[in-house]
Amino acid sequence: MLKKRAENVFSPVLSRFHELDIKYGKGCYLYDHANTPYLDFGSGIAVTSTGHCHPAIVEAVQKQAGELIHPCIAVGNTDVVIECAEKIVSLFHPDSYSVFFEQSGAGAVEAALKLAKFITKKHHILAFEGGFHGRSMGALSVTTSKRAYRDHIGPMLDGVSFFPFPNLYRSSDPAISEPSVESYILKLKERSVIHSGLAAVIIEPILGEGGYVPVPIEFLKSVSLLCKEHGVLLIVDEIQSGIGRTGRWFQFQKANIVPDIVVLAKGLGSGMPIAACVGKTELMKQWGKGSHGGTYGGNPVACAAASATIDVITNQLPNITNLSLFVSNKFAALENHPYVGDIRIEGLMIGIEFVKNKQTKEPYPEIVSDLLQQALAKRLIILSCGVYSNVIRLAPPLIISQEELDKGLTLLLEIINDYH
Ligand SMILES: Cc1ncc(COP(=O)(O)O)c(C=O)c1O
Repeated sequence: MLKKRAENVFSPVLSRFHELDIKYGKGCYLYDHANTPYLDFGSGIAVTSTGHCHPAIVEAVQKQAGELIHPCIAVGNTDVVIECAEKIVSLFHPDSYSVFFEQSGAGAVEAALKLAKFITKKHHILAFEGGFHGRSMGALSVTTSKRAYRDHIGPMLDGVSFFPFPNLYRSSDPAISEPSVESYILKLKERSVIHSGLAAVIIEPILGEGGYVPVPIEFLKSVSLLCKEHGVLLIVDEIQSGIGRTGRWFQFQKANIVPDIVVLAKGLGSGMPIAACVGKTELMKQWGKGSHGGTYGGNPVACAAASATIDVITNQLPNITNLSLFVSNKFAALENHPYVGDIRIEGLMIGIEFVKNKQTKEPYPEIVSDLLQQALAKRLIILSCGVYSNVIRLAPPLIISQEELDKGLTLLLEIINDYH
């Protein structure tokens, strides 16, 4: 019904997983115009961690919208915006961080790159192959997860180099034919890719669009150590993995490292457009006044939503480990499935990689696009990701109950097992 109208007015450049007619959302479900519920394991691409229209978020947004929508942070301070920043930096305790608000993940990445360049007075950046940091020109210059994002719009930012993402299942580098944590760390050191000429290293602690692949903890520690040794700033992109998605506030905390800059978006605002570039206070103090800014950053309504989101996730965080364990147990038998190459579960960030052949590991994107459609036919929304589009990505709301989780996983297992 809405598809035709959408086609008439939307730019066809948008690539979409589904074209559902959606009327409203509540909890873990989206509903169409006939009130048909769809169990949503995509959460608006890992955004609505509190579920759709969580009462606490709706109340906070409605209250703030009735009071003040946009004074502009350049004009004055508001309690709700400061409170939101206070809550964000409290998640980084005991280290001291300051916040620069943005509206999108890409915006936060731009801010982080600019901050790093401004402070170090250097412009070289190291990023990782298969990474995704956003679609604006700076963010895109450190993004390689899909060729289509970069085709025909170069030149990219000058001075960006790449190292293979430390994927233990498959290596993108012929020189690392047997991928292991040790081999990646060895090559990182041998090639001296982290050196004093760099302004920053930017890394996703779990590859998001690139396939839901966690960085091995020892590798993350090595990167952090090398950055410290060479005076290079470490930017950790927690846009998809942060705000409780992995059962911790941030995935970098698993490695016990202290990044210089962390970028946040997605799950931070429960769907309200808010993002943050969070930098060590000592660095933020060196960022020249007026050298960065924006009209909408620190919007009170978005900040009210983010504040309420942090409260809701604070309550739910202790439950994520158990829910994650439930997923692992449920998926254990999938290891033997002929087309399942790898299963990666960190909290409720779940990736299942499909291959045509377990020995050759030839990617199987066709099965993934088919599974997406079959799941939708059974009213389950799932997403895909991966450099080869061969990974099923599940990012259910963090407030999900075990029963709802079980329902979706059972449905998914049924359709995956039909492929035997
Ligand atoms: C890790 C990561 N960084 C950056 C971005 C860009 O965020 P946005 O789409 O809000 O610009 C994304 C979006 O998917 C992401 O997953």
